[in-house]
Amino acid sequence: MAENAGEPTPDELLAIAVRIAREAADTARRMRTEAITDVQTKSTDTDVVTAADKAVERQVVEALRRERPGDGVLGEEYGDSTATTGGVRWILDPIDGTVNYLYGLPQYAVSLAAEVNGTVVAGVVRNAATGDEWTATRGGGAWRGSRRLGGSARTTLDQALVGTGFGYDPERRAHQGAVLAGLITRVRDIRRFGSAALDLCMAAEGSLDAYFEKGLNAWDHAAGGLVAAEAGLRVSGLDGRAAGKDMLVAAPPAIFPALHDVLVELDAAGGP
Ligand code: IPD
Repeated sequence: MAENAGEPTPDELLAIAVRIAREAADTARRMRTEAITDVQTKSTDTDVVTAADKAVERQVVEALRRERPGDGVLGEEYGDSTATTGGVRWILDPIDGTVNYLYGLPQYAVSLAAEVNGTVVAGVVRNAATGDEWTATRGGGAWRGSRRLGGSARTTLDQALVGTGFGYDPERRAHQGAVLAGLITRVRDIRRFGSAALDLCMAAEGSLDAYFEKGLNAWDHAAGGLVAAEAGLRVSGLDGRAAGKDMLVAAPPAIFPALHDVLVELDAAGGP
């Protein structure tokens, strides 16, 4: 992508994202006690949103408005909350892993990505419970602190530890359960940690060999997907489609074809 004069570089956008995500993660962690007493549901009775999800999103939107008033922001809780006058749009999940947040499980994260003219160019995922942080810029690699990430070196699916997740809708879960039943005998094992953004970062650093999920929204995978891709993983949908609602698969090039083909065979992108 050619950078226009006056357009921010991926590094500049990442610096803003990291600063704002760190403040947001501090707020999320501080608010945990309050959040568990103020819980509402969204798409289904198990799809929760806490006071902290909303407060963190408001805080990030206000900070972005101050720093870059003309940019758009797509957030999980409030949707498109600013008008875009330039080519930059921020994609935010204020707390990815809200159910973990509710239960005090230390696997929830602030995920913030910057898209320029429709392409994600910078992203940060910060585990708000532990302070672990993953970053990437398009063409600049994926990083956990000063360590550059390169994904898993495993080469066969039957030896692969594969992460996944489930939607909140019971009918979708029934389909996802059937897919899992077909897959689990063909891999080392399955993990479900409860935060797609963190799952993608774990695949980027090789603590998972691969990851897939159906039904993700842009805010779940924008930042983590860039981290995984910049770590050298193939990140896409099935049958050459882009990663999106139907399916996102992230796997090292050696494992991707086998995982892809099993997911096609199991109709993992199908169902509700
Ligand atoms: C959810 C998490 C979960 C994934 C779900 C997402 P939320 O996001 O990322 O791991 O399986 O599909 O909706 O609701 O915690 O922001």
